[in-house]
Amino acid sequence: MPPKVIVICNRKGGTGKTNVAINLSAYLSSLGKKVLLIDLDPQANATSGLGVENRLQGIYEMMSQQISLNDGLILVRKNFWLIPANENLAGADIEMVDLPEREFILKKTINNLLIKKAEENFNYVFIDTPPSLSLLTINSLVAADQILIPVQAEYYALEGLGQLLETVKLVKENLKSNLDVLGAVITMYDNRGRLSEEVWEELYRHFPYYIFRSIIPRNIRLAEAPSYGKTILEYAPQSKGAKAYERLAKEFLINGVF
Ligand SMILES: Nc1ncnc2c1ncn2[C@@H]1O[C@H](COP(=O)(O)OP(=O)(O)OP(=O)(O)O)[C@@H](O)[C@H]1O
Ligand SMILES: [Mg+2]
Repeated sequence: MPPKVIVICNRKGGTGKTNVAINLSAYLSSLGKKVLLIDLDPQANATSGLGVENRLQGIYEMMSQQISLNDGLILVRKNFWLIPANENLAGADIEMVDLPEREFILKKTINNLLIKKAEENFNYVFIDTPPSLSLLTINSLVAADQILIPVQAEYYALEGLGQLLETVKLVKENLKSNLDVLGAVITMYDNRGRLSEEVWEELYRHFPYYIFRSIIPRNIRLAEAPSYGKTILEYAPQSKGAKAYERLAKEFLINGVF
């Protein structure tokens, strides 16, 4: 069975997209699933957060066919592969504008890679995206089977969510994509504040898709781990943050969507 391609996306910045990308991938791979994470953000936070520094060969070079498909792929942990980002990706949007089928470049790259690396039998391909609604992000939505939306438990959390869902609809209608909404994961939840609770209730009222029961708390260990290039499983496996990601990974698998 071909892997599910899941884009982790929210037009808002700092909602925990990269944190979810790294740590959900880490727990799924520790549970024996084969995971490929593509860092599609010029900020390259997923790349550095996994301890990978300054790679000249990454997703930009693969998409622009400057390197062979194999050369961008790094095995970063057991069962866990990364295609890194580097700063060249920052120019990709402008460079792609005049290309034919410019929205399909990432999809073609992933499809070719999966054919070439068929023996790896990946279970999941995750794409970590920048917060902007750029051509890169459109490429990620077109390439994906499903979108997972990290929603930060704060006052303006729902801002932009309607627009994101509208974009998903437009991509489906206009770009021959089968994109489905996998659901939302609530991040940085602080159970001491009433505000978090209100945001949560509002999300339940207005978001007509699955919301993961496993909520990611605001946890200092989760914020610290990336600066050591470590996943939470490596950095603080007993922390509340780690336990939450373990539950999320199990819920993701039990969910039966796959
Ligand atoms: N559950 C959490 N608890 C505490 N800190 C967190 C948590 N999740 C993420 N952070 C921290 O909050 C900041 C934003 O998180 P992250 O980088 O994952 O968001 P993002 O959505 O990927 O941001 P961007 O839109 O810039 O790509 C980072 O400093 C990160 O370490
Ligand atoms: Mg990010």
